[in-house]
Amino acid sequence: MRIKQWIGALAALAILPMAASAANTMDGKALYQANCAKCHGATGEVSEYGKSLKPFPARNHRAIAKLISRDEMRRIITYGIKGTAMTPKKYTLDALEIEEVIDYIKTFDYTPDLANGKKRFEAVCSSCHGMDGRAKTGVGAKNLVYTKLSLTEIVHTMRYGRPNTLMTSKRHQLSNPDIADIAYYVDSLRYLANPANGKKLYARNCASCHATPSDIKLIGNAATTRSISDLSDRLLDLRIRHGRHVDRAGKKVEKLSSDSIQDIMAYMRVSTH
Ligand code: HEC
Ligand code: HEC
Ligand code: HEC
Repeated sequence: MRIKQWIGALAALAILPMAASAANTMDGKALYQANCAKCHGATGEVSEYGKSLKPFPARNHRAIAKLISRDEMRRIITYGIKGTAMTPKKYTLDALEIEEVIDYIKTFDYTPDLANGKKRFEAVCSSCHGMDGRAKTGVGAKNLVYTKLSLTEIVHTMRYGRPNTLMTSKRHQLSNPDIADIAYYVDSLRYLANPANGKKLYARNCASCHATPSDIKLIGNAATTRSISDLSDRLLDLRIRHGRHVDRAGKKVEKLSSDSIQDIMAYMRVSTH
């Protein structure tokens, strides 16, 4: 019966990607060596030939293998990068083979060099973001110590920049190992909150109105947020520092630094979870 054949064919199609994935990295390796290694190097670290390419050299895969998304890799591999030696691969590899190559690239490991990250950050980023990452005033740069971005998102921001801001793409200004080292360094700058200090700050600045963090009533569009532990750090920070709460709590909250708020939040987290 025709219908039955169709169902059989559909089932086979559904199984195909799963069956293939077991052999993925093996096939991916062979495909990579045959189609990519000439420029990107057998170990993902750019061949001499790849370095000599114009207008832009080939790029190191090893450093960013785990820091850029599959979607981004798939797009670049499939459609290439116009005006460079990175031609579209959709004519030589089918969709499944491209996935296998990506699987293989994703196995590359990289150990970041934080000292290099710091050096490069100070040379390339500090003019706007400050030597300590806390941002210079007047240029609209973000304070990276409190960034809510993940490591991958930091890399994405560095690679593509933000349209219509001073944050331009750094992709051709920096090598991929430099991008990875800087991203890990920026990630390491995150403020490590101190709950013990937060406890003292809470007693001094908050306890007069909320004896303990559990006494705080969440109001407003709080249908799904019953307690502080339902709020992300970003929302909790907003609720403490902005809007009506600043009117209610006044100067006591207004004068607290970002570090102090982080410490208070850390204390609130350990005492309410
Ligand atoms: C003839 C040389 C050449 C070959 C072969 C080649 N590439 Fe490229 N590739 C390049 C160049 C050059 C660039 C950088 C272009 C740029 O900077 O805009 C690049 C960039 C890329 C990027 C983006 C990297 C980044 O950090 O932005 C990916 C991903 C990529 N190639 C994957 C592949 C894969 C997978 C293959 C094999 C299927 C392959 N390339 C084959 C030359 C090549
Ligand atoms: C010429 C000034 C300038 C330089 C140099 C610069 N940035 Fe930026 N950066 C900005 C501005 C302005 C923004 C805010 C963009 C916006 O409003 O979305 C920003 C935003 C960012 C963000 C997003 C943070 C967030 O939480 O949204 C990251 C990450 C970042 N920069 C990293 C870097 C790194 C790493 C370097 C060095 C490789 C660098 N920037 C160099 C001006 C700069
Ligand atoms: C002068 C009194 C006062 C002080 C001091 C004060 N608050 Fe509040 N806060 C309020 C009032 C009033 C509300 C409204 C809800 C309630 O009655 O509990 C509130 C609500 C909140 C909320 C929930 C906000 C919302 O929109 O749902 C949080 C979180 C909070 N306070 C945290 C703090 C923290 C942390 C401090 C210390 C840095 C602090 N408060 C200091 C008066 C104060």
